[in-house]
Amino acid sequence: MNFELILVEPQIAPFVAMVRLNRPKELNALNLQLMGEIRDALAMLDEDENVRAIVITGNERAFAAGADIKQMAGRTAIDMLKIDQFSTWDGIRRTKKPLIAAVSGFALGGGCELAMLCDMIVASETAQFGQPEINIGVMPGAGGTQRLTRAVGKARAMEMVLTGRFISAREAQDAGLINKIVPVDLFLDEAIKLAASVAAKSPIAVQLAKESVLKAFETPLQEGLYFERKNFYMLFATEDQKEGMAAFVEKRPADFKGK
Ligand code: CAA
Repeated sequence: MNFELILVEPQIAPFVAMVRLNRPKELNALNLQLMGEIRDALAMLDEDENVRAIVITGNERAFAAGADIKQMAGRTAIDMLKIDQFSTWDGIRRTKKPLIAAVSGFALGGGCELAMLCDMIVASETAQFGQPEINIGVMPGAGGTQRLTRAVGKARAMEMVLTGRFISAREAQDAGLINKIVPVDLFLDEAIKLAASVAAKSPIAVQLAKESVLKAFETPLQEGLYFERKNFYMLFATEDQKEGMAAFVEKRPADFKGK
């Protein structure tokens, strides 16, 4: 596949792929082409047996400064409805493999929403998260009002969405939005390390575990518990379960094959 606005590295580490947003002059503003390329790359990597975890990153200055305001500015509501830009986001959300966002600098609007759509976030000390759409007369449209509220609670989400205030990496960590903060020269390495530690597990168990955790946001507790239980039982159909448990008993590292 040919990509213009992203760089794809299918093996940045064993079983770990990386997708880098690459519109640096525009602070990785998320235009339709860029989002389409991210979706296509993730669909391709999701199919690749040599990939078990995927890091999504930007550059030191910006993960992404939001949807491309210049591209959207002249649109009518009917244009927006027809273009239906967020269906691309639904495609990204369907990625089965774990997504780890490596965030430095701005993660604003759609950039914050893209990071939150990932399963874990590693941030540099300079990272700033925000939903500033209110400053341009709109509101978050790619999940910000929902995922941010679930992640940081009503009080802080409401303040961020209604005032557009950015929060620092430290505040984001205190609020439970991100997994870890590292010095700016290490944010990508740390994200790759985190991805590699997940990629060392059974990929089938990881996929079903990810699916089960995400289910917690969509179902009442009892339904989520049944869903979890079925996935748990299903894993006993895998060779990886036999291997993982045998390795424990034999006091050796497990060699997971994804079968
Ligand atoms: N869309 C289009 N272009 C953008 C952009 C965006 N979201 N963010 C930055 N850029 C462009 C700027 O226009 C500028 O381009 P030019 O050099 O051609 O003028 C370039 O990137 C560099 O930006 P700045 O000169 O503004 O850099 P700065 O350091 O002074 O400020 C910033 C950085 C605070 C991030 C500022 O650029 C900014 O406020 N950006 C917009 C943030 C925003 O409102 N995001 C939400 C978008 S709407 C959305 O995301 C909806 C949704 O839910 C999906």
